[in-house]
Amino acid sequence: MNKKVTNLTIKKMKGEGTPISMITAYDYVMAQNVDEAGIDMILVGDSLGNVVMGHTSTLPVTMDDMVHHTAAVVRGTKRALVVADMPFMSYQESVCQALHNAGRLMKETGCDAVKLEGGASVCEAVKAMTTAGIPVVGHIGLTPQSVHQLGGYRVQGKNAETAKRLIQEALALEEAGAFAIVLECVPTDIAAEITKALKQAATIGIGAGNVCDGQVLVCTDLLGMSGGFRPKFVKTYANLHQTIVDAVSQYIKDVQDRSFPNEEYSFDVDPEVVKAMKE
Ligand code: KIV
Repeated sequence: MNKKVTNLTIKKMKGEGTPISMITAYDYVMAQNVDEAGIDMILVGDSLGNVVMGHTSTLPVTMDDMVHHTAAVVRGTKRALVVADMPFMSYQESVCQALHNAGRLMKETGCDAVKLEGGASVCEAVKAMTTAGIPVVGHIGLTPQSVHQLGGYRVQGKNAETAKRLIQEALALEEAGAFAIVLECVPTDIAAEITKALKQAATIGIGAGNVCDGQVLVCTDLLGMSGGFRPKFVKTYANLHQTIVDAVSQYIKDVQDRSFPNEEYSFDVDPEVVKAMKE
């Protein structure tokens, strides 16, 4: 196994200009697969609300949901740095609440870092967490927990004022101690300016062009696991949806015509045993 990835590895990769790969995972087996592939960071995203639980947003996700899924991912990971998302309203009430819940994720799951959404409004919490020894990833641009405030899932930083605000937020998060910052749905040129402005914190883009220090995608999007809507920024590298439908259809047919399980998949016994059993 290569050396475990840490927050220092990520900072070093930024410094050296080595692109950082990140993907979401929500369970043990997916974590094993993406870790074996050599991914640098695994995000247990609160996107599990949509992807795993079938909600229409991330808002219903609870701390208990995050603890449950993150612990499973940690058990399946040897090398990658595992980041647990802090769900909606697990950190917005107070610094004390944020610190308590970040600590809970670290203690109960064994994850390596936590992620939370927002700029200036969360910097005090980020500072308290990093001071307490908890590595933090920020998340700005399109922040799905604020979908109602943002008026929908839309690209952020499209005019000079909002673009400037994004750079200020990124700098404030870096100053507060975040070692990486997710930039979601930000125009490429603005993501480039943010990436250049940050000297320590690595930018991880999703819908933010190829200019960031790293990239993140949702695993089920990348693998084409569902037949539904996919955002413009998603590249699908497989069509597992069709592979699964085809495989299960074949299984159903084999069950129906009794070609499964044949001898290859069955256990035999000495005929004398059967005879004796019937006596
Ligand atoms: O929850 C998530 O999957 C995320 C990514 C989209 C960055 O926050």
